[in-house]
Amino acid sequence: MQTNRETVRNEVKLKQASIAVLGLGHVGLPTALGLAELGWNVTGADADPRKIALLRQGQSPFYEPGLQQLLTRHAANPRFRLADSVADAIRSSAVLFVCVGTPQRENGEADLTQVEELARTIAANLNGYKLIVEKSTVPAITGQWVKLTIQRYSRKAGNGSAAQPEFDVASNPEFLQEGKAVDDFFHPDRIVCGVESELARSILSEIYAPLGCPVLFTDVSTAELIKHAANAFLATKISFINMVADLCDSVGADVRRVAEGIGLDPRIGRAFLNAGVGFGGYCFPKDLRAFIRLAEENGADASLLRATEQINESRLDRFVHKVRQALWMIDGKVVGVLGLAFKPGTDDIRESPALRIADDLARRGARLRVYDPKAMENTKSVLPEGDTVTYCADAYGAAEGAHALLVLTEWEEFRNLDLPRIRSLMELPVIVDGRNLLDPDAVRRAGLEYLCMGRQREASAQGLHEILAAAS
Ligand code: UGA
Repeated sequence: MQTNRETVRNEVKLKQASIAVLGLGHVGLPTALGLAELGWNVTGADADPRKIALLRQGQSPFYEPGLQQLLTRHAANPRFRLADSVADAIRSSAVLFVCVGTPQRENGEADLTQVEELARTIAANLNGYKLIVEKSTVPAITGQWVKLTIQRYSRKAGNGSAAQPEFDVASNPEFLQEGKAVDDFFHPDRIVCGVESELARSILSEIYAPLGCPVLFTDVSTAELIKHAANAFLATKISFINMVADLCDSVGADVRRVAEGIGLDPRIGRAFLNAGVGFGGYCFPKDLRAFIRLAEENGADASLLRATEQINESRLDRFVHKVRQALWMIDGKVVGVLGLAFKPGTDDIRESPALRIADDLARRGARLRVYDPKAMENTKSVLPEGDTVTYCADAYGAAEGAHALLVLTEWEEFRNLDLPRIRSLMELPVIVDGRNLLDPDAVRRAGLEYLCMGRQREASAQGLHEILAAAS
């Protein structure tokens, strides 16, 4: 295949162009299937052959609402193909979406090894014009490195003799949230495209035209920065409201009403002002650290972001302090844990606050009875079943014989628990709600002591002693 710019332009216009999605993780797989659903010819590739084998059997490698259905639908679609190798996908496609992992190094900076390796593979397989689109979250100026790497290595592959095929590098950061990634793909608030040629701009416009949402075109470095800035800003909102929650606990105010009161101001907005045990997952903690590194390396004052990180780190101690307020001694107590995933709607436990808390309590001598609707299999490898940890079939199993029941992930099914039943199963009637999920009145009516985040006066209007007196 020796396609030039004009051929690709025409192919894209006629929807004949082939798009490769390189890396089929939490970003790549929803993107690949979403593009196939929009009617594009999509080739998915991943360096992990086990993932490809699983996908070929029609199974999604992770849980994401709606993803399995999309996969099943496109399994027999000739427009959706899984390549035997990354090189194969590159050679057969004109547009390459880069969705490989960008984990963090010990020092917090983004580890771009996989991006660099992929750039070299692209260089070795540059058999015609390619538009290389970064979707992985990368620090600003990565696009320039990708471009230089492809130039250098493709020259090497061609021995510097023949004229090298052309390519463009673009940045198209993703804003998908786990737990709603499929829905986010089809209904984005905006699409950001950093481009450096008219062709790249027109290709990306065509690809996303069916979604009918605002598309912001910028240069490549700006688009890269938008992604990091968006995640850092959202993380900062969360740490801000968590700081306010601690203050609410001290002065007897209600953080949910504060969030509502400030969130009604459109300049602030209500979203991402839910106080709790802090933010986790594969994105916010890692992207925040990478952004801090980038800022500090470039002489920008990153103290605001450092405070965001530090407040988030201290959520663990804050929460454990609440558990101690409820139980006094943790050693020897049975603690029920509702929720292990870093947020609802996913089986992802990476940097999950729930897991950090569970681990900390186990170290302090608690015996844990844990339950999560989706994340238990993933958790078993890091928090093995044994004398200290029992995996339960449901929330009621986790409550059995417990001295306290903790809500650590706001799964919908926990919102509607049969609280009198929970009460009857527990050794002590104590709930510590790290996500402010439950209705304090309903909990109290069921005869349970309730501690939560940033509305302590309301929640503890009826104290443990009163409850125990009433129960005896
Ligand atoms: C985040 C961003 O929201 C996405 O836009 C972005 O595309 C993605 O990172 C990424 O970079 O790939 P995600 O990590 O999937 O998405 O999940 P969020 O819904 O943002 O939640 C992150 C963490 O913040 C969770 O632990 C959640 O429980 C916590 N959170 C969120 C709060 O504690 N309070 C809130 O009000 C909102």
